[in-house]
Formats: sequence, C-alpha cells, structure tokens
Amino acid sequence: MSGLSGKRILLIICGGIAAYKALDLVRRLREREISVRAVMTAAAHHFVTPLSVASLSGDRVFTDLFSLTDEAEIGHIELSREADLVVVAPATADLLAKMAHGLADDLASTLLLATDKKILVAPAMNLRMWLAPPTVRNVAALRSDGVIFTGPANGDMACGEYGPGRMSEPLEILAAIEAALAGDTALPLPAAYRANPLARGGAGGLEGRRVVVTSGPTHEPIDPVRYIANRSSGKQGHAIAAAARAAGAEVTLISGPVALADPPGVATIHVETARDMQQAVEAALPADIFIGAAAVADWRTPEAAPGKLKKGVAATQTLPLIENPDILAAVGRRKQDRPALVVGFAAETEQLIEHAQEKRLAKGCDLIVANNVGAGANVFGGDRNEVTLIAADGMERWPSLSKAEVAAKLVARLARKLSEAPA
Ligand code: CTP
Repeated sequence: MSGLSGKRILLIICGGIAAYKALDLVRRLREREISVRAVMTAAAHHFVTPLSVASLSGDRVFTDLFSLTDEAEIGHIELSREADLVVVAPATADLLAKMAHGLADDLASTLLLATDKKILVAPAMNLRMWLAPPTVRNVAALRSDGVIFTGPANGDMACGEYGPGRMSEPLEILAAIEAALAGDTALPLPAAYRANPLARGGAGGLEGRRVVVTSGPTHEPIDPVRYIANRSSGKQGHAIAAAARAAGAEVTLISGPVALADPPGVATIHVETARDMQQAVEAALPADIFIGAAAVADWRTPEAAPGKLKKGVAATQTLPLIENPDILAAVGRRKQDRPALVVGFAAETEQLIEHAQEKRLAKGCDLIVANNVGAGANVFGGDRNEVTLIAADGMERWPSLSKAEVAAKLVARLARKLSEAPA
C-alpha cells in the first residue's frame, strides 16, 4: 500500500497516439490504490475505447458535457472538484490552447476551467506543434497560472521526426503525480474573489437563508480584573460569518472578546461569557443554519468575586469551578425550531476522529468540523486550518487551507446540503 492510497485522480485523456500509454498509467495508479475517474475527449475515442479505460479504472468513463444522465448522477462541477488532482495525459496542443484561453466547449475543457484543484499535464504532440510560437505562448501562460508540466521528452515521433513532443513515460507521470499529491493540491481562490467575495454574484446559494454563527473565546470572570479564557482568535468563525454573508445569507455573528473587526454586512453581537453567548444565540434563533465555531469556556467560577482578590488568597483557597451550559448541544437537541443544519467544531489534541465523532452524536450535530489544535498545529491565532469534516454518512479530510478558504468551502457545502434537504 502506498502512502497515497485513497487519493483520487481525475484523468483527462485527449486524442493522440500516446493515449494508449494512459491505459498503463491508469493501471499503475490503481496498483497504488489511487482511484481514477477518467474523462475522454471526442478525439480520444479514435485511439482508445472507453471500455478499456473503464475496465482498468474500475469506474465509468465520462465523455459528454451535455449528458443528462451524467449530470443527474454527478454534475460536471462536482466531477471537477471531488478529485485531489486533475491530470491531463496526453495533453494535445489543442487542449493546452483551450486551457490557456479559458475555453470551455466540451466536458474536458469545462472541467479544467471549473476545477479548484491543481492540474498536471503531460503534453504529447509533433515537435513542430510543441515548438510553434502559439504553443510556446500557451505553455508559458499555463505555467504562470500554476499548471504543472511533466515532459514532453525528446524522441522519435510517430510521424518519423525526432525531437521534443513525446509524452513522458507512465512511470515519470506517476512520479510527477505522486510529488504533486504529496503537497497541497488545492488551487487558491482567484485574486478577484479574495478581494471581493461578492464577485461571485448572486450564485452564493444562501440567498434568503438565516445563519447564526458563534466565534471567538468566552471570558469567565474570576474577579473584576481576572478571567478564565482560551487561545481562540475568532478568525475561523468570523471568516465563516463573512463567507455566509457573501453567499447571500442574513447572518448574525455572536462573538466573544476578539481583536477582529466585525465582518461587513453581518449583524454582530458582542458578548463576554458563555451564558451571555447562550442568551444571544437563543435570541438570534430560529435560523436555517447554526454554526458553533466559538471556543466556549467549559468552566466558570460559581460567583465572580465582587472585589479584586488579593494575591495571598491562593495560599488559603482553591478556585471552585462549575460547568458552563453547552450552547451547541442545546441547539442540536432542540425539539422545536431546530435549525435544519447544526454544525459544531471539535478542537482536539489527540484521537481527533474518535472524539469528534463522539461529540457529533453527543451534541446532536449534523456536521462536526474537527481540527487538531495540538502543539505545533498553530491553529489558534494562525491563518490556516487543516480540518476533517465528520457527518453521519462519512468523513472528509481537507488539505491545509487558509481560514477564508475553509470558510468558503464549508459554506458552499452547507448551501448544497440545505438545498438537498427536504423542505
Ligand atoms: N461548545 C458550546 N458550548 C460549550 C462548549 C462547547 O457550544 N460550553 C461547542 C463549541 O462551540 C464547539 C463544540 O461545542 O462547536 C466543541 O467544543 P470543544 O471545546 O471541542 O468541546 P467540549 O464540548 O468543550 O469538550 P472537551 O473540552 O471535553 O473536548
């Protein structure tokens, strides 16, 4: 078993004499337990058959952008995103030109334009086509867009000439795939989107929905100057509130004490303690989605001292603690007006998945976003997050992403789930 077992490749096969080598590539990927979903261009059918590709990949082959059956089973956007990496082998001059110019007139080019994953291409063409100025320009543009190239190699061409243009051998492509999969394969969001999430227009999927988000730590006073707190910065929760707003929702953010600005367009309520937060949540509900991203303090002192405790007190007294109400569990177990989707977070330092699964059940959540907050993970206060989504029907590990990307992906996921849920 290779370390990449379970990874998923979307393989696009173009028309070219090298297409037969794609079959060997599929076989070698499968040997490493990397799953392969193949898409063939119309021209590829002249060189290999969908049946031979399907028999080696163990999965059906997609060919047609306008197939209603395909679209009903798995939309082309989904197809382009569920993989960990998109590989084009062989990549023809024609497809590279389409990619470089953002054309999307068949399934392969549409998937390449719509994907949010890195793309690795193995070009194969006649050497004059490879060296032709338009191809040289297109390759330079694609490289600067972050497309990874493997090959082409020098060699004898099927057409009798010698030079660069031969597709890399399957083992070389495999090595390039393995190297790419070992890194972060997510494509950063386009700069225009990062600068202005509303650039997505009205297609956010949460128009007309209400979303309530908790974020940040809570402070539990011990006396007028001291409190119990934790390291939460609120960055992830605030990013989720902003992403939900950008997706069109009416958002209420209930924030503990943080050093962040209120997200534009989001009704933000500032609270200090867990009990204040709970009250604010109850007042903000009902909603379609509740997301508990706050790191609520688990304990408080039964009664904060009215005056500052003098330092000598530690010698004679221990600090009594009682448990705070569990805000998320109260929402998840609501009998009336329970949000259609209740999402919790699980911050763990060990046995991440087991503890997160237990939390999901114990707190009546639809989804738990689990993250490792152990030493070295740098989640608290940091700008990146590596999370695993845990639902009743399975789990999904996301690569390390910026907190804004985690937020956008999570919100897109919730919007889809909500649209699938029975009204
Ligand atoms: N949570 C909450 N109210 C609390 C404690 C936690 O709403 N009093 C929510 C958090 O917002 C988060 C989830 O519950 O969505 C899990 O929080 P976490 O701190 O990981 O778990 P705890 O329930 O506090 O359990 P433990 O500290 O034992 O891991």
